[in-house]
Amino acid sequence: MKQLIQLKINGQVRDVAIDTNDTLLEVLRENLGMTGTKEACDLGECGACTVLLDGRPVHSCLTLAIRAQGREIETIEGLAQNDNLHPLQQSFVDRGAIQCGYCTPGMILTSKALLDGNPSPTEHEIRRAISGNICRCTGYVKIVEAIKAVAEKEA
Ligand code: FES
Ligand code: FES
Repeated sequence: MKQLIQLKINGQVRDVAIDTNDTLLEVLRENLGMTGTKEACDLGECGACTVLLDGRPVHSCLTLAIRAQGREIETIEGLAQNDNLHPLQQSFVDRGAIQCGYCTPGMILTSKALLDGNPSPTEHEIRRAISGNICRCTGYVKIVEAIKAVAEKEA
């Protein structure tokens, strides 16, 4: 039997009917059509499904939607304001840090959590923060440069 819950996503409260074992990833993508959050391994190993829960990166493929009630959920869809990309999104575009783009939403949300807590991280701290986000295309160099550029601007 479905259960009706409320989730606060990118500042908006959404009513959604779920099964109690639905993951947050399933609810975002399938119930709410928010396909910016990517599904890849479904095992908590690649970081593609990363969203922020109360400001901290979590694997939405391992998070039950029901456990996200009453918490602030942030997805990639919430970052751009009006027609303006978030500085991290813009920096990834400007520096060619995106190829297939599959890792990008998770990578950007993980970076956002890092910079929100530590606006001027070292390269080592950046690399450590994104170590759970796998990119099979870029080799990470441009991703790290893109994050560093935003950190330097904010510092
Ligand atoms: S899809 Fe969730 S960690 Fe890979
Ligand atoms: S850009 Fe393709 S996986 Fe990162």
